[in-house]
Amino acid sequence: VSLRHLNTFGLDADARFFINVHSVDELAAILHDPEWKNTPKFILGGGSNILLTRDIEALVIHPAIVGITVVEENEETVVLAVGAGEVWHDFVMHCVDKGYGGVENLSLIPGTVGAAPMQNIGAYGVEVKSVIECVEAVDIESGEKRIFSNEECQFGYRESVFKKSLKDKYVITGATFRLNKKPVLNAAYGDVQKTLREMGAEIPTIRDVSEAIMQIRRSKLPDPAEIGNAGSFFKNPEIPVAQFAHLRELFPEIPGYPVDAETTKVPAGWLIERAGWKGYREDDIGVHARQALVLVNYGGGSGAKIKALSEKIRESVNKKFGITLNVEVNIH
Ligand code: EPU
Repeated sequence: VSLRHLNTFGLDADARFFINVHSVDELAAILHDPEWKNTPKFILGGGSNILLTRDIEALVIHPAIVGITVVEENEETVVLAVGAGEVWHDFVMHCVDKGYGGVENLSLIPGTVGAAPMQNIGAYGVEVKSVIECVEAVDIESGEKRIFSNEECQFGYRESVFKKSLKDKYVITGATFRLNKKPVLNAAYGDVQKTLREMGAEIPTIRDVSEAIMQIRRSKLPDPAEIGNAGSFFKNPEIPVAQFAHLRELFPEIPGYPVDAETTKVPAGWLIERAGWKGYREDDIGVHARQALVLVNYGGGSGAKIKALSEKIRESVNKKFGITLNVEVNIH
């Protein structure tokens, strides 16, 4: 089965076997089925954070569990249980339409609801961990259902327990969100404020914030429907403040954001641009011209070539700045 339309890089790779599951019961039945017992399993959500460098010799399971249910509601908040297969942005639009605040800053992030907790998606000052109540998952080995509290998910910057100690152990089947019916806006991020002003939104609503963010994203980030990509390819590195101070002497314009007293976060896009890679193109693949943190497949490129390019970029950034970039996308 070709996975070309199931990954936003648009890479051609085959799955040995492929199945959509529409419910937790259907998933458990597959996991318990003796016929599949000894076949390796691979979970593929929206395919928006994966670089396929080869075929997947496994049973690829695509959670297609849908539904948005109100589980609790009062004057202040609403708690929604959402199926892993819901498209993330559609869920955000649902919340904006209903006036439920908390996810508007995460508008237009590609992928599914099930993939959101996996890497604690974040943008424009908000991470999904701030609204997740719990995550529902199924143990791949036993087929047992388990609920993970927010704390048990061990969320960090683009991290969760599902990427670390429990990697490849669970299928996320749904997530529960606590949203605010009296929204508190998070519009401090420079670009967001500026765009809201340009829009003339004096007393912004969550819809205004959502629209401002969509506008910013569309102006910088390539639409995967047009140019294959998986968003930021690397994480923004966190370095010791002393190292940052030293770099600032060498490169006075280097941007940095304090994380805590010891650590500064540096935008990887700046480092990559300064190392000369922005807009770089090698046949069918390259570095996006408007956001150097995004690697792209113009069509017909291969995952192995994108991986090789990412390694060259890492080496060159390391040589110039002494900073090692860590990959954000999952490489298979
Ligand atoms: N910059 C450059 N050149 C570039 C790109 C960025 O100099 O080509 C510098 C600029 O100084 C800019 C700064 O980097 O002000 C920050 O850029 P931007 O606001 O575009 O954000 P980012 O740090 O590159 C992160 C997330 C994005 C998220 C944005 C907005 C990571 C790895 N990426 O990118 O998330 O949308 O902030 O909050 O943390 C993703 O994870 O796939 C993703 C797109």
